[in-house]
Amino acid sequence: DYDAGPFVPGGADLEGLRDAAAGCRGCPLFREATQTVFGSGGASARVVLVGEQPGDQEDRKGEPFVGPAGGVLTRALAEAGIDPAEAYVTNAVKHFKFERQARGKRRIHKAPNLHEISACRPWLASELRLIGPEVVVALGATAGKSLLGSSFRVTQQRGVPLPLPSLDGEGDGAGEGTLVATIHPSAVLRADDRARADAYAGLVSDLGVAARLLR
Ligand code: URA
Repeated sequence: DYDAGPFVPGGADLEGLRDAAAGCRGCPLFREATQTVFGSGGASARVVLVGEQPGDQEDRKGEPFVGPAGGVLTRALAEAGIDPAEAYVTNAVKHFKFERQARGKRRIHKAPNLHEISACRPWLASELRLIGPEVVVALGATAGKSLLGSSFRVTQQRGVPLPLPSLDGEGDGAGEGTLVATIHPSAVLRADDRARADAYAGLVSDLGVAARLLR
């Protein structure tokens, strides 16, 4: 099975993890992607935001949420009252998965599957272990599945504080901290004109739940 575990160095700090993640070959996604996109932010962050995987621009730049979805996220965080300086931003899967259009150069995002999500989980687990955040926000289904398991459903579990499970060891018992799930910011961009304002308001409202836990 795919597994990033053997690539995660013991006893490393965030910079050490980032350096090691650059050489991860725990699943086949490294082959086509430009580079590993590790999390961004400090070890003292009080809140960790977990997305799905880097997109086209993140893959080129090597930083999470620097494309269109990142624009939505930045606005929504400000509206919800979460200080980006207190946040660590990362993804459940750290390489861009895509398909090339039949002819042409456009790279079309493909959702990671459960094998890829679980292969990459040791990186997320090590980030969370080092940071020990008070609140973790799962942005969308992939992050929710990585953190809560494959039966996670955004529509049923969004916007309410949940105990954050420990990702270390056997996945038994609660860790410390609280998880809040919401939609992925790119769902706001994909919504049609009629639905977009509601989708965005829902994102801000769920992030508001996380913001109140930080006060
Ligand atoms: N979407 C994500 O889930 N993560 C990113 O970093 C960018 C877009």
